[in-house]
Amino acid sequence: MQSEIRTLARQFAQKEILPRVEEDEKTETFRPELIEQLGSLGLTGIPVSETYEGAGLGYREYTAAIEEIAKASASYAISVAVTGLPQVILSNYGTEEQKKRWIPPLATGKAIGAFSLSEAVSGSDAAALITTAKKEGNSYLLNGTKLWCTQGDVAETLIVMARTGGEGPKGISAFVVEKGMSGFRLGKREKKMGCGISHTMELVFENTKIPESHLIGKEGEGFKIALSALDSGRITIAATAVGIAQAALDCAVHHAKEREQFGKPIGAQQGVAFLLADMGTQIEAARLLVQQAATLKDKDQPYSQQAAMAKLFATDTAMKVTTDAVQILGGSGYTSEFPVERYMREAKVTQIVEGTNQIQRLVVGRHLLGGLR
Ligand code: CAA
Repeated sequence: MQSEIRTLARQFAQKEILPRVEEDEKTETFRPELIEQLGSLGLTGIPVSETYEGAGLGYREYTAAIEEIAKASASYAISVAVTGLPQVILSNYGTEEQKKRWIPPLATGKAIGAFSLSEAVSGSDAAALITTAKKEGNSYLLNGTKLWCTQGDVAETLIVMARTGGEGPKGISAFVVEKGMSGFRLGKREKKMGCGISHTMELVFENTKIPESHLIGKEGEGFKIALSALDSGRITIAATAVGIAQAALDCAVHHAKEREQFGKPIGAQQGVAFLLADMGTQIEAARLLVQQAATLKDKDQPYSQQAAMAKLFATDTAMKVTTDAVQILGGSGYTSEFPVERYMREAKVTQIVEGTNQIQRLVVGRHLLGGLR
């Protein structure tokens, strides 16, 4: 099944996404209809149960699809990955009513999802967030400003973490916020180095009334809910990085065969061939780490450490491979006539989003040391 999903995603991405990417990245144009089309192919809810209109498959299939989408556009791969976060949270922690209400539109691409944890004061130190959700009767009043919310402007269903209790991780709860709720407005949109199609938003909450039926799990469980979702999200970001790196390698190989200097293709120079060999080897290793984390998750075995390792290695690989691809294309690689400079800009964000690679090292280190701090 994994190879069928891979082929389906590749065909769609190459035909429908790739031709518009360069222009849309420049104009920062996101096309929700592409997510809807991906949804109608069953590609926006791959690991979600068929009961809630998902494909009922696993992360091995999900990551294969994301890798193929990323080869065409990292922005759309990230969009699919982030739309997956509310689905995984609701699948694991939602009530039956919450699952039935919010998962099917996301799983079928009719709605876009978002996840909002970070704030100005709480990036890597996610438990320091200060947005509050105060209980008033049967509702919560949400107040505060969230940052770095991927596709917060187009999302219909957002999972927002806010403080319902005291300081620290145990005072945090998770809520479903819906587009258009009164007191919820969009703040600034970040101007970024890459991934312009995927908008990164500030969200402002001013006495936003959230019915208590929107609380996920219990009060105080929000931090665990967020971090467990990020564990799975990190596998999808790693898959995105593998896709970006593979696209860069494909471009570099093509160039190394076509471009002639000193009377022969530059790929016939050992200096270039060795560079390509290292790039290919690192990508294969990254893909295997992604597969390992995905397989553990699919088997319901602990995978937090392997997800962090996959994210760390795959995204560092993407940065290195895309930089080397630019080098192989030389001056041309540095221009926007070729996609490798875009890949290099896209690779950078994968080292940051869903936990910087320093945080991934911290997570891996804690696992290796059995929690020693
Ligand atoms: N799954 C479930 N629970 C977890 C967990 C995990 N992976 N990791 C920790 N926890 C639990 C712990 O067990 C602990 O609970 P108990 O006391 O009951 O055992 C509680 O959470 C606190 O854990 P820590 O003491 O380890 O917490 P910490 O403050 O040291 O933080 C951290 C740990 C790993 C640094 C975490 O804060 C982190 O991952 N930071 C990075 C945040 C991040 O990735 N942000 C990106 C968000 S993505 C985004 O915003 C953009 C977008 O659009 C997607």
